[in-house]
Amino acid sequence: MTLWGGRFSASMDSTLWDLSESYSFDHVLYAHDLMGTRAHVRGLVVAGLLSADEGSRLGATLDEIEAEFDRGTFVRQSSDEDVHTAIERRATELAGDLGAKIHTARSRNDQVATTLRLFTRDALTQVARQSLVLVDALVELGDRHRDAYLPGYTHLQRAQPVLLSHHLQAHAWALLRDVARLLDARGRLNVSPLGAGALAGTSLNINPSVTSELLMFERPFSNSMDAVSDRDFVAETLFDIALTGIHLSRMGEELVLWTSAEFNFASLGDPFTTGSSMLPQKKNSDVAELARAKSGRLVGNLTGFLVTLKGLPLSYNRDLQEDKEPLFDSVRQVLLVLAAMAGAYRSLIFNVEVAARAANDQHLVAIDVAERLVEEGVPFRQAHERVGTLVGESVRRAVPFADVVLGDPELAHFAPLFELGAALDRRRSPGASGPHAARAQREQLDEARAVASSRL
Ligand code: ARG
Repeated sequence: MTLWGGRFSASMDSTLWDLSESYSFDHVLYAHDLMGTRAHVRGLVVAGLLSADEGSRLGATLDEIEAEFDRGTFVRQSSDEDVHTAIERRATELAGDLGAKIHTARSRNDQVATTLRLFTRDALTQVARQSLVLVDALVELGDRHRDAYLPGYTHLQRAQPVLLSHHLQAHAWALLRDVARLLDARGRLNVSPLGAGALAGTSLNINPSVTSELLMFERPFSNSMDAVSDRDFVAETLFDIALTGIHLSRMGEELVLWTSAEFNFASLGDPFTTGSSMLPQKKNSDVAELARAKSGRLVGNLTGFLVTLKGLPLSYNRDLQEDKEPLFDSVRQVLLVLAAMAGAYRSLIFNVEVAARAANDQHLVAIDVAERLVEEGVPFRQAHERVGTLVGESVRRAVPFADVVLGDPELAHFAPLFELGAALDRRRSPGASGPHAARAQREQLDEARAVASSRL
């Protein structure tokens, strides 16, 4: 069914049809369209534009249509341009003239904006929920190895030993910020565009507050032109997902490194690895590579859509139809990565000994030696210089750093600094990577996790 027969004398060219139809990808919006359409019908009843009986008959018709979609028996007619048209066409088939009243005081412009906000509201919740699953997997892995440590890196050079749990929780904090951002975006999108009509509202006596409330939006639009033009919520969602994707990409890169023979800090469980079609010995971390790779696509979806929006005159333009594919793709891809990465971390075997050996690189104690000197009254810059000289000597003479330090009679009492894990134990500043600060951090993390999950 086309929605505008009256004015035209020739039908649409097939090349334009192919360019213009969106049913092939927007049919996934059926449930959200029907949700909006049900509220719209109720709004028409409240406005006196439909009788109560007409309202309930249309409600039943919409239920029937939803059941057809759910069962997979809904049949698209070749003339259905998009899911919204298809639903109205089917309602008219099932309810006759009554179906033809359904679009009273509504345009596809406010309809599609409403539908997409409802979809995005649910999608944001879903992505936030799945992000928390990954947070839990990271925290659990840390809990399984409470005493494990590894070198912490800056510039990918060994810097200081850190607790594994601290390292993993650094990723968890990033994800918790992502969750907060996703849910903030959900809060901002919670404005109903229904009732804005094509762009300027309607002369018919509808009240957008009625439908807004039924759809559990926070409030109806204030400006009808903004209501049909605004896709900030799509751009924001694409950004929030892209940033989550970038965090996932950084985790992915780290897993690729950790599971390489060169690091050998960890291996992934067999169900989360792949083999090689040619090299029998290979066990590849494809999950981590795909997590790394998908971020490119997520950033692309964001960038592409921002460019689509740029320069659009008010109000609705058909360009806005291009909001859907990037949005659907980003939501789907990030959910896939979040789920697979949670599984990958749950399956991860951390090579405690190998990582500890790397972390026990004596040069990593250099800062602790300098800080002990500070405790003894040496100004930090002088302590840094003195320890730097000792490191240089150890490197030049190829003598263990401990031997150089402890060979200096003034520093002989620093021996305990070179005991396994001593550096971590001495590190007690708030938020630091050590067993003492860990308890407080864990409480803060659990609290942030609880706040996030209470907002779902
Ligand atoms: N499929 C269209 C979209 O997604 C529906 C709106 C079309 N509106 C119009 N005036 N042509 O944007």
